Amino acid sequence: MSTKKRIGVIGSGAVGQVLAGGFAKHGFETMVGSRDAAKLKEWAAKAGSLAKAGTVQEAARFGDIVVLAVKGTAAEEAVRLAGPETLAGKIVMDATNPIAEAPPTNGVLKFFTSLDESLMERLQRLAPKARFVKAFSCVGNALMVNPKLSGGPPTMFICGNDAEAKKEVEGVLKLFGWETEDAGMVEAARAIEPLCMLWCIPGFLKNDWVHAFKLIRP
Ligand SMILES: NC(=O)c1ccc[n+]([C@@H]2O[C@H](COP(=O)([O-])OP(=O)(O)OC[C@H]3O[C@@H](n4cnc5c(N)ncnc54)[C@H](OP(=O)(O)O)[C@@H]3O)[C@@H](O)[C@H]2O)c1
Repeated sequence: MSTKKRIGVIGSGAVGQVLAGGFAKHGFETMVGSRDAAKLKEWAAKAGSLAKAGTVQEAARFGDIVVLAVKGTAAEEAVRLAGPETLAGKIVMDATNPIAEAPPTNGVLKFFTSLDESLMERLQRLAPKARFVKAFSCVGNALMVNPKLSGGPPTMFICGNDAEAKKEVEGVLKLFGWETEDAGMVEAARAIEPLCMLWCIPGFLKNDWVHAFKLIRP
């Protein structure tokens, strides 16, 4: 994957900052967008010359590849704010999870979507010309960039309607130390997004937050 590509990250939280830092570390010019750019001042001061902060719209315009890393309940609003026309034709790496505003039950998160409609399907409908690829949604931010795990590279499950976009995201994942499992079209997000529930259970029950999924075959 060419480092000439510019990366726009929508999301000022831990995921936005970690992924933006990862892209900058790997030599990509990166802009993180927030509704309140002042939030990112401290981060931008430490993130190096390749990373800068801007508004949501600026980050969406800046990126050849756009990362969506906002609170699940705000994801549709963030896509509207970024502008479906601005995102048209761009790869949108969607790390969001549809976590509801309700506490987990015995460590199991509540979602505001159903098993028949994922958040990414809603986002893809909102911005039909954007090339959404689900990625980085099923691991904690601490392990997103070049994780060191004794079992070797973990597996990231991805999906989306655009084969070329998925190939490009596979390149990003390889650079970030991941194997990729392409689960198919946008509807596969119905299965990938709930992996976040499974991933969080050891965290909520045993305060064990350092793990990742790996698919093994003979
Ligand atoms: N935390 C993890 O380790 C992890 C791992 C995998 C996936 N994820 C998923 O990644 C996403 C980001 O998670 P996070 O932990 O980094 O942060 P978060 O607290 O879930 O989200 C922070 C971001 O959401 C935006 N936001 C909140 N309310 C908004 C609204 N009403 N309208 C527009 N934007 C709004 C904020 O924007 P402003 O900057 O404009 O305030 C901020 O950029 C989530 O969907 C989460 O489920 C998280």
